[in-house]
Amino acid sequence: MRIVLCNSPEEAVSFTVNRIARLVARKPEAVLGLATGGTMEPVYTGLVAAHREGLSFAKATSFNLDEYVGLTPNHPQSYRYYMEQHLFGQVDMDPSRIFVPRGDLDPLEAAEAYESEIRSRGPMDLQLLGLGHNGHIGFNEPGSSLASRTRDKALTMSTREANARYFGPDETQPISALTMGIATIMDAKEILILAVGAAKAAAVRAVAEGPVTTMCPGSALQFHQNVTMVVDEDAGAGLVLKSYYREAETMHVDRD
Ligand code: GLP
Repeated sequence: MRIVLCNSPEEAVSFTVNRIARLVARKPEAVLGLATGGTMEPVYTGLVAAHREGLSFAKATSFNLDEYVGLTPNHPQSYRYYMEQHLFGQVDMDPSRIFVPRGDLDPLEAAEAYESEIRSRGPMDLQLLGLGHNGHIGFNEPGSSLASRTRDKALTMSTREANARYFGPDETQPISALTMGIATIMDAKEILILAVGAAKAAAVRAVAEGPVTTMCPGSALQFHQNVTMVVDEDAGAGLVLKSYYREAETMHVDRD
């Protein structure tokens, strides 16, 4: 796993934006795996800015990681809505090549349909990931099978608490989500995981340096050949091999 330690959250975001923008410039028909969450908001702001400067997403395809079960695509707390606000509505993506799991349909059928769409259009050229406090990727909570595929996954109390801030007092917060599985994520040709802030430090360390275990679903990424983890100073604070990663970066030659 390549670990990129950045001096600030802004630097980590800009590394991520550049990586995605360079891929789309080099391969306009790229298949992108996209993520949601607070961490990704400035990433999408950066991609929208790149679009305004001429980058076209018209030939790209995207698959989002997950969606709350029970929410319609136009529900303000749905991930589809989030994506419309932060990216889809502001760039030139072709709506027929935008895919987000359908939380408002029968979960079993929607999950199967999503996997088959990924099979026919994938694999993902680049899968973008955030990281949950408990080490989840997508909504693959601790205990998830490392061989899992898209399915309806019950959310842990800690994840529900972390995301409660987005729901109003009168809104019912979903208790489960349709999420790509860990095996679905691992099929991507390249994975880029971004984490910023001290609250992510323990999860970052567990993903990069801990044992591979279902208790930290992100640790499965250690079995992938092309993963880059981008962190700011706070999120990377617990990494044991910090100085090695820094030194290794000075020798790193970017292939893009
Ligand atoms: C949610 C999403 C994840 C995301 C995580 C972290 O649970 N399903 O894909 O990585 O939140 O979110 P944040 O970036 O807001 O910390």
